[in-house]
Amino acid sequence: MKVHGKPMRTLWVEADGWSVGIIDQTHLPHALVTLRLTTLDEAAHAIRSMQVRGAPLIGAVAAYGVCLGLRGDASDGALERTCALLQETRPTAVNLRWALDEMRRTLRPLAPGQRVAVAYQRAAAIADEDVAINRAIGAHGLGLIASAWERKGRQGRVNVLTHCNAGWLATVDWGTALSPIYQAHDSGIAVHVWVDETRPRNQGASLTAWELGQHGVPHTVIVDNMGGHLMQHGQVDLCIVGTDRTTARGDVANKIGTYLKALAAKDNGVPFYVALPSPTIDWTLEDGVRDIPIEQRDGREVTDVSGRLPSGEVVTVRVTPEGSAVANYGFDVTPARLVTALVTERGVCAASTEGLLSLFPERRPVRETGT
Ligand code: MRU
Repeated sequence: MKVHGKPMRTLWVEADGWSVGIIDQTHLPHALVTLRLTTLDEAAHAIRSMQVRGAPLIGAVAAYGVCLGLRGDASDGALERTCALLQETRPTAVNLRWALDEMRRTLRPLAPGQRVAVAYQRAAAIADEDVAINRAIGAHGLGLIASAWERKGRQGRVNVLTHCNAGWLATVDWGTALSPIYQAHDSGIAVHVWVDETRPRNQGASLTAWELGQHGVPHTVIVDNMGGHLMQHGQVDLCIVGTDRTTARGDVANKIGTYLKALAAKDNGVPFYVALPSPTIDWTLEDGVRDIPIEQRDGREVTDVSGRLPSGEVVTVRVTPEGSAVANYGFDVTPARLVTALVTERGVCAASTEGLLSLFPERRPVRETGT
């Protein structure tokens, strides 16, 4: 996507050929700050502290974290220790585990002396695959927005509600939930986005609003509790969100508050779509509410908010009484029954075991044939 009119990805290898460039998202929307990662610990810190975040981007950064980790020691033990350290940075997004499994699978059979060069190749491929996947998700999701536009007789605008940031900043490029929106906007459909602010970290207000603005997509930031009211008054044509982990039967973990939006959408007959790349599917799990690990984060994300003063200084202030207890679950699970459809790089399907298997038949369990 473009920043100040120039194409940019969220992740790149620097001109030295080995260190890894990222956008430090903790400074957005007030400043575009880039960082150079040079060690495994810096890569792990970037994920843990959410300098980079969003399920697909976490996976791609972890892949490059393996490259950085192996530069000094590419032994079997170092490979295992590197992957274990990165795996522990954030628990909910399964793309992290997927990327580390990919790196391990590729590197383990090789001699240590070959591993670093091949690690960079595989990490680059993971990043490039993410871009291609997200572009394809956009092409499939565009059809859903185009249909809504036709239903409205190409009058007014298509109002899309999204939660958190599942855009360009959450991936290497394009985004998942926002990719169809960018493609609809670029193809001339009048699309407008309701952007949930997404407390406690405000990824909607600070990141989604920023990147939609960079691309010129009309949008309005709303407080998290406004979506239901807008839906009751016919002001939301469809919802599209991303996901950090989708189970084999189509249950969807995403940023805390997604479930309440899905409930409101169901009650109001508003289609609720979830956009996801296939590395976000956890084929080993069925019941998302029971089995997806939900990250609990520092309570200060709830007690405090930060923002920019008119002077330009960015400050953090407390909004809760000293002594009030807080809870901070980072994600919730939306059961498949509330999801109208899943939008993947292979097409749109029902949020169900059969729906997913229709697009990913290679995942169908092989039946034993009796003789
Ligand atoms: O805690 P975050 O900011 O990493 O959470 C991100 C989300 O919940 C996104 O919706 C999800 O990762 C999908 S990103 C394409």
